[in-house]
Amino acid sequence: MQRIQLSEKAKNISPSLTLSITASANELKQKGVDIVAFTAGEPDYNTPEHIQEAGIKAIKSGITRYTPAAGTLELREAICQKLKNDNGLDYTPEQIIVSSGAKHSLYNVFQVLLNPGDEVIIPVPYWTSYPEFVTLAGGKPVFLETKKEKNFKFSISELEELTTPRTKAIILNSPGNPTGTVFDLEDLKELAAYAVKHGIIVVSDEIYEKLIYDGLKHTSIASLNPEIKELTIVVNGVSKAYAMTGWRIGYAAGRQDIIKAMSNFQSHATSSCCAISQYASCIALTGSQEPVEKMRAEFAKRRDYMAERVNSLPYLSCLKPKGAFYMWVSIEELIGKEIKGRKIDSSTTFADILIKDAHVAVIPGIAFGADDYIRLSYATSIEQIEKGMDRIEKLLATVE
Ligand SMILES: Cc1ncc(COP(=O)(O)O)c(C=O)c1O
Repeated sequence: MQRIQLSEKAKNISPSLTLSITASANELKQKGVDIVAFTAGEPDYNTPEHIQEAGIKAIKSGITRYTPAAGTLELREAICQKLKNDNGLDYTPEQIIVSSGAKHSLYNVFQVLLNPGDEVIIPVPYWTSYPEFVTLAGGKPVFLETKKEKNFKFSISELEELTTPRTKAIILNSPGNPTGTVFDLEDLKELAAYAVKHGIIVVSDEIYEKLIYDGLKHTSIASLNPEIKELTIVVNGVSKAYAMTGWRIGYAAGRQDIIKAMSNFQSHATSSCCAISQYASCIALTGSQEPVEKMRAEFAKRRDYMAERVNSLPYLSCLKPKGAFYMWVSIEELIGKEIKGRKIDSSTTFADILIKDAHVAVIPGIAFGADDYIRLSYATSIEQIEKGMDRIEKLLATVE
């Protein structure tokens, strides 16, 4: 037994901190502890009724077999139509691949793009899986720090400083997790011009496209001109917009040769994704969009309330997020202080104190590359938000 060693690759993978904290909060809940969880990375709504019905119909009518590795033609056509209607993008079904969630599409993108040592620029804070996608594909993540003062956006000169001959791609996530930052048209134009000038691929993760506030409109960078479209891989899915996280359907759109390579890769790794979910996703994309708007409007109200509460507290502050369903809260002023004899030296310590002493679960910012922040999810009811914020307020009154 002793001679069996895991691969170096396996030894270096860290588990998804966001998923493991959510799991431990759930464990405490099951033991009867009244936990307020601000950890959810998914809508707290059920999949809309007509999409549920589509899933049932698929099972009953025998849509239960393997599909083509890249996804059913019907779903890929529906995705083309969605990209045309919502984003002004023209793709053919051969330029689309359906995967088991956007996460799977993103994983596959880097597997087919990167050679050992290829560099991928990742703005910080980042969604927790981005650096792992790159390292698992043999690439090197290059971190581009962003600041609250600049709305967590980066400038082209900052990007320029990190660009090398090995720079293969940059990850763009707008609306973003964890900051809720939305890149406006001007930001996107500048980035597109830079990427085209240097031949850098833009991996554009648009999974939170539909959850955007203050009257803003999502623009896909790929839609700006034909040159940037050639260089962009658009990644999206049904998880967040249609409350379908467990159905596991995401997709990528891009150059046919890249998509073909992803399909070949996927055909050996996972075959096609779930036929039933593909059928239901087709209905999600082509059916009524009313439930999406209802959910978005509800998230907007929760965001307003939570941001107001956070900013009324001592030591904590946040920008009002423009999209997604997360509040990126600075704990900078708390670092070095004490609560009940425990020194707050990191986001992990503060998250631990919060769950143990206040029974509020949050994700430490270190999971996103920033140790002086925590992430609160407002994908939970207003009542829970109120209760959780009351508890945090009480705990902060004990800071020394
Ligand atoms: C930024 C970002 N991209 C992608 C995903 C993954 O989405 P999916 O459920 O479609 O795999 C998430 C989920 O948390 C996310 O936050």
